[in-house]
Amino acid sequence: MPIEEARIIDSNRRQELKTQLDECLREAPKSITLEIGCGHGHFLVAYAAAHPQEYCIGVDIIEDRLVRAERKLRRAELTNVSFVRADAMMLLETLPKAVRLNCIFVLFPDPWPKRKHHKNRLICPDFLNILAKKADFGAKLHFRTDHDPYFQKAREVVAEHSDWELADATWPFECETVFQERAESHQSWIAQNVVKP
Ligand SMILES: C[S@@+](CC[C@H](N)C(=O)[O-])C[C@H]1O[C@@H](n2cnc3c(N)ncnc32)[C@H](O)[C@@H]1O
Repeated sequence: MPIEEARIIDSNRRQELKTQLDECLREAPKSITLEIGCGHGHFLVAYAAAHPQEYCIGVDIIEDRLVRAERKLRRAELTNVSFVRADAMMLLETLPKAVRLNCIFVLFPDPWPKRKHHKNRLICPDFLNILAKKADFGAKLHFRTDHDPYFQKAREVVAEHSDWELADATWPFECETVFQERAESHQSWIAQNVVKP
């Protein structure tokens, strides 16, 4: 695709996303909960039902999974959740300035096991930079995976990042995701944002 055409498509997509976010966050509290790679929405729908005072956004790039997530949301008659189809980085870049992240979940992200694909992993310094810029001081990032090498590497990356500190905190809410159900075991870490406003 010619570069100019790709640029226009990207800019249109960002504008659409901005409109969608402005709309769903109009009456939301200033600090929200975000699940990145929410898949079929099992976790976030249950989490939002148990935390009616919070506003939750689930983001994923796969349309079919979000259709199922939306179905669950309608069945549960919740008004404090929105599902958005977008790349996580684009969502963070498009989030209205006044909106902060207080609680972030990354559950069973794609592990990209081959070395040549490690660059595709979500947890990397650039991603942690932008996440910290959008997060409240003390906001918690919850990470869970069944892939031990990714668990170790992501933990190392977050421990070395100046904006985040590994926290000795309890996992706040349990609800099996689709990938958790398939996994034999899993490991989790929680980090908190240490960037002062
Ligand atoms: C392995 S699945 C896990 C889904 C769900 N969290 C679970 O535990 O069942 C990873 C999910 O992350 C989504 N994903 C991958 N890269 C993403 C990105 N850059 N932005 C948003 N979602 C992404 C995929 O589409 C997929 O639904």
